[in-house]
Amino acid sequence: MAVTLSYAIIFLLTLVWYRFVRRQKKISQGKAETELPPGSMGWPYIGETLQLYSQDPNEFFSSRQKRFGEIFKTHILGCPSVMLASPEAARFVLVTKAHLFKPTYPSSKERLVGPAALFFHQGDYHTRLRKLVQASLSIEAIRNLVPDIDALTTATMDSWREGHVVNTFHEMKKISFEVGILMIFGRLEARYREELKKNYFIVDNGYNSFPINIPGTPYRKALQARKKLSKILSDIINERKEKKLLEKDLVACLLNSKDEQGEVLTDDQIADNIIGILFAAQDTTASAMTWIVKYLHDNPKLLEAVKAEHKAIKRLTEESNQQLSWSHTRKMPTTYKVILETLRMASIISFTFREAVADVEYKGYLIPKGWKVMPLFRNIHHNPEFFTDPQKFDPWRFEVAPKPNTFMPFGSGVHACPGNELAKLEMLIVTHHLVSNFRWEVVQSENGIHYGPFPVPMQGLPTRFWKESTT
Ligand code: HEM
Repeated sequence: MAVTLSYAIIFLLTLVWYRFVRRQKKISQGKAETELPPGSMGWPYIGETLQLYSQDPNEFFSSRQKRFGEIFKTHILGCPSVMLASPEAARFVLVTKAHLFKPTYPSSKERLVGPAALFFHQGDYHTRLRKLVQASLSIEAIRNLVPDIDALTTATMDSWREGHVVNTFHEMKKISFEVGILMIFGRLEARYREELKKNYFIVDNGYNSFPINIPGTPYRKALQARKKLSKILSDIINERKEKKLLEKDLVACLLNSKDEQGEVLTDDQIADNIIGILFAAQDTTASAMTWIVKYLHDNPKLLEAVKAEHKAIKRLTEESNQQLSWSHTRKMPTTYKVILETLRMASIISFTFREAVADVEYKGYLIPKGWKVMPLFRNIHHNPEFFTDPQKFDPWRFEVAPKPNTFMPFGSGVHACPGNELAKLEMLIVTHHLVSNFRWEVVQSENGIHYGPFPVPMQGLPTRFWKESTT
């Protein structure tokens, strides 16, 4: 027994000595040893997944941030991960060292959207596609969409007029879907639009379901609907090819594009990017618009200020017998601040995922190759150091610009949202019609937030709307 103990002690001392010598050698070579960030890796294999999913994700992140600081490790969904809750760290991953961190998504989701969608990629292909998408989302392109967005918004809202309860999130999804279609295809024939809508909503439903591909599951139905979407898109693309491409919408940009070797995009690449844009655009914008309805409802004084702003615009449009125009949307400073504060409070994309493509050192910590890296936007937006009284809905805080890299509702760097201006335009137009033409009462029985994965008020914010008389 004593002999075994002595051997064990000698072994341990040798190990300690070996590690000491190795560390000294690295230090003398100028390679100080980096260590993993602090944090808990939880249980073997499942890690901290159960903790993350059994509580409000904000609690999960902020309790660890309090315990371990602004960079900490964890293990979720089978992946060792490093979470980053400081503006500098987010900038490091998304901007300055973006080439060392590639976008990463579960393969089940990649299969549904389509593997050629730009946000799954890094490098030349991503840059090429991003330029095309940015061109069709530029201010010059979207300002022409105002009359159509205005018309489709009033048409959807008109169905709320009678005071019956509607699911606000579902209604906002109808609007953001139509805006997505408009930006992608211009004015699309009704038969195509209806077919796309039917199948897209099945894919959308399966996207956040458990990815098990057996008959009857939402995931299987989504895969089948995705195939039908490819067929419909291929019909539209062929028709557009025949018509010669004079339009300036996204499909035209994609069809006209040639790379340096003169290669055009394949129909599959075009289809995957169309579905990808719809995914990126629809639920995010609908969720933000749902929160606007809630925050204005909960802050009557603010609602009065917003109403006054829109009354003045309505007077302008009525006097000149005009429809709402781009220049009217530039005269909504209070509403604009409401939108920014909504994006901060709700933090629609709470965090994003990247994967380290090499061992990376950050502030003396090692982020090993293959680990997931998650900049936590919501934690930064809710940090009292950057936003005083962060739980208070206070649009006036945006009278002063936030400190650099502390406000990233649309991300940052090479993958930052190219649709941010369109999303804000949509929110301005929806708010204009909401406060000018409706009063509303939220009839939500349950408070709280549902993450699906974007944060939405419980039950999609059931609300009664009444159209107010215009006299
Ligand atoms: C309130 C609404 C929206 C929010 C909060 C939002 C937020 C974001 C964020 C945070 C990212 C970066 C994700 C990352 O770095 O991993 C992103 C990327 C993206 N968004 Fe948005 N988005 C919104 C609306 C839109 C709209 C309306 C469109 C298009 C019409 C759009 C298209 C995209 C695309 C294509 C990307 C990927 C860009 C790339 O990888 O280069 N988004 N969005």
